[in-house]
Amino acid sequence: MKGILLAGGSGTRLHPMTLAASKQLLPVYDKPMVYYPLSTLMLAGIQDIMLISTPEDLPQFKRLLGDGSRFSVRFEYAVQPKPDGIAQAFLIGRDWLGGEACALALGDNLIHADHLSTLLQAAAARPVGASVFAYQVRDPERYGVVSFDANGKAIEVVEKPTAPTSNWAITGLYFYDKHVSDIARQIKPSARGELEITDLNRVYLEMSTLNVEKLSRGCAWLDAGTPDSLLQAATFVQTIQSRTGMLVGCPEEVAYRMGYIDAGRLRHHAMHLGKTDLGRALLELAEGEVE
Ligand code: G1P
Repeated sequence: MKGILLAGGSGTRLHPMTLAASKQLLPVYDKPMVYYPLSTLMLAGIQDIMLISTPEDLPQFKRLLGDGSRFSVRFEYAVQPKPDGIAQAFLIGRDWLGGEACALALGDNLIHADHLSTLLQAAAARPVGASVFAYQVRDPERYGVVSFDANGKAIEVVEKPTAPTSNWAITGLYFYDKHVSDIARQIKPSARGELEITDLNRVYLEMSTLNVEKLSRGCAWLDAGTPDSLLQAATFVQTIQSRTGMLVGCPEEVAYRMGYIDAGRLRHHAMHLGKTDLGRALLELAEGEVE
């Protein structure tokens, strides 16, 4: 399975911070925002990743991530000229995908959960259909929303409903089978002129192949698209890391835990990060001082 990391958009809700910098490169505590969804894709076992961004911002992502060898990931870069919608990612990535199954992670979403890799690898292993994750929120009208029938079966998906019939938001992490590029081609732009990911999900729902996984209350799902949510995400990462000594959203750590890089390479990357707390934490991991 391949993965797409979508880091486009103009980040208008974060102006003026995003007038000269990509939203997904802004810091979430001690790492660039894009590290969090990148770590999520890597935890799913994905090592072929296409990063899609705007023509202006793409060079900065290349500078940050390079060819991916640091994390034992192969990066491909592509441009989304205009913010024409999330589902367009599968049209942009169509040739690169070459008919393979694909996961999509939005560059401003952070998921932190116990046994997340088990959950993600199960979704990646499903050969048919799509898998999405639902999370209960107070403000569902800001998101794609899924409703369930009395038996807990997903019956409806709606993008930013004015009167939501459920408080289950669909997170920005999606797993699709090999038909995704063909299905994305059938989607028509919405009233706001975008190829909506929710319309793509609805096609799978109508084929009865949309698997909706409810994330439990023990999980944290955060987006970082507004000043408040950006600050909350940063505080969350700081709290977990400083309390437990465990890292959140660190691709070097994930590469090591997934067995992609050995302790020697991890130590090398840790040294590169210098005297930062992050560098120190990676060094301790490489030297076997933490589990
Ligand atoms: C997008 C999707 C929405 C999803 C959300 C998750 O919204 O359109 O369905 O729930 O991401 O972050 P946007 O952030 O583009 O408003």
